Amino acid sequence: MSFRGGPVLGIESSCDETSAAVVADGEVLGHVILSQDAHALYGGVVPEIAARQHLAHIDGVVAGALEEAGIEPKDLRGVGVTAGPGLVGALLVGLNWAKGFAYPLGLPIVGVHHMEAHLYANSLESSGATPPFVALLVSGGHTLLLHAPRWGEYRLLGATRDDAVGEAFDKVARRLGLGFPGGPQIEKLARRGKAGRYRLPRPMLSKRDGPRDAAYFDFSFSGLKTAVSLLVAEVEANAAGTDMEASRADLAAEFQEAVVDVLVAKTMRAVEHTGCRRVLLGGGVARNGPLRERLTEALVPTGELFAPSPRLSTDNAAMVARLAEHRLTAGEAHGLDLNADPGLSFPGLVDRERTE
Ligand code: KG4
Ligand code: ZN
Repeated sequence: MSFRGGPVLGIESSCDETSAAVVADGEVLGHVILSQDAHALYGGVVPEIAARQHLAHIDGVVAGALEEAGIEPKDLRGVGVTAGPGLVGALLVGLNWAKGFAYPLGLPIVGVHHMEAHLYANSLESSGATPPFVALLVSGGHTLLLHAPRWGEYRLLGATRDDAVGEAFDKVARRLGLGFPGGPQIEKLARRGKAGRYRLPRPMLSKRDGPRDAAYFDFSFSGLKTAVSLLVAEVEANAAGTDMEASRADLAAEFQEAVVDVLVAKTMRAVEHTGCRRVLLGGGVARNGPLRERLTEALVPTGELFAPSPRLSTDNAAMVARLAEHRLTAGEAHGLDLNADPGLSFPGLVDRERTE
């Protein structure tokens, strides 16, 4: 098999997944994702443990991806690695490993932004997932609503003012006595419950706001999380030893519905405002079934939703390799002075104030 320019190795280690992938011309040839389960015990990611686990497993994870792809290191065209944002210790493991691997082989290295890579995950599975589009990026650390007229040109419409959506799922899950990560567990519990029995707020959805108000596109999930906490305390007090199981399922269903209501409404505001009816979803929360269903319905009949398959929604290296492939094709590469940046800014993202 021959590929234009050759295959690219991608490495992802920004949080608690150690992952490596080989991608050529948008095709995933080999892909290994190791989710660290050591954090479950603590109810959240412990940065020091994450870094140590990456170090312990990265050799094997990369070897596995290369083997699956049937590719020798000398056949690679370059190495893409997540340079930020994320946990600095975790990022450094992947970055330094990538440098040590690329240097003796004389391969170019390109550092990529984790959230931009989530966006590129879509282009691994759908050739139609190209600009112009509106994107909703929802992960454990970020909630971004943007408009992309072209790859690399992103206009920020809205962002969270406090907690990220995934973080809210994780915190509410913990309050409901569920394990970590909380998103999948809330979704599962909510299937047995009914939204509407308890009523939670839909934050930042005031009808008085218009596109010129920042609040029109922005998000806030911290108040919702507190509202759940107060409601759970009230329900627990009234339950007085009776079975809480059905109530917990109803609470999970109402919380999920509140979040989905807000995400769908804001995304549709962005669609109306930009006139762009192609929507890309990315980040771990993109796995959420009700979110995908409701967005798909809202875009009928003239719009279209692109969302990665579950494996490519949460953290993975295929999306990193895919973005690196674009960068290398554009002639971009970094030097060995490339550093991990836990607060790396989104390349090409222009703030709302500067676009109006
Ligand atoms: O993108 P990701 O794997 O890591 C970060 O970049 O943060 O996203 C992880 C987040 C976690 O907060 C997790 O609870 C959430 O994605 N998540 C979900 C679901 N699956 C994962 N949230 C809601 N519903 C899901 N099915
Ligand atoms: Zn992520």
